[in-house]
Amino acid sequence: MLPADDRALRIIERLVVGLGLTSLTIAVILIATGWRLETLASGGVFPQSQIERGERLYNVFCYGCHGGPEVAPRPAGAIVYPPPHNASGHTWQHPDCELAAIVRDGGDDVTRALRVASAPPGAVEMPAFNQRLSADEIAAVLAYIKTMWTPEERETNERVTRTSCAT
Ligand code: HEC
Repeated sequence: MLPADDRALRIIERLVVGLGLTSLTIAVILIATGWRLETLASGGVFPQSQIERGERLYNVFCYGCHGGPEVAPRPAGAIVYPPPHNASGHTWQHPDCELAAIVRDGGDDVTRALRVASAPPGAVEMPAFNQRLSADEIAAVLAYIKTMWTPEERETNERVTRTSCAT
């Protein structure tokens, strides 16, 4: 048998260790779910800071031509130039590597073919941003664009990205 003082000391020791472990666990859970909630609220798996950076860049470099989340769905069959990036557009149908390449290098053969088929006379062209935006900045802009899509559109984009883009 330990003297009463010693036993009291052991009990206090256990309480302190127990409390420490509990608060550590709670802190870890809070940090983990806090981050998840933040990214889920933004509609994707990107950190909020990247999305906000993308939004700032988008508003400076892209909004003027493409508009933002508010662009109304086009009437059936109508051709909208430049194409909106939100849920009513078709950006989500393209894999990420293709989107990044268009932003980096400007229109490609497909966009040129589409222009010939559907652009109104004198319509502006998609400029290349490789002199103005880094790969990181383009990734941030795309992360922001994805917040404008429905969950189904995001799934389609993820699927075509998995099948068409080298990782
Ligand atoms: C001067 C106007 C203009 C600006 C500025 C502009 N775009 Fe475009 N963009 C276009 C046009 C027009 C097209 C259609 C293709 C074409 O005709 O060149 C296009 C096409 C695209 C496409 C392929 C079509 C689609 O929706 O999938 C993407 C992606 C795109 N732009 C992203 C961007 C991003 C990101 C920015 C900003 C960094 C940007 N654009 C800035 C005019 C512009």
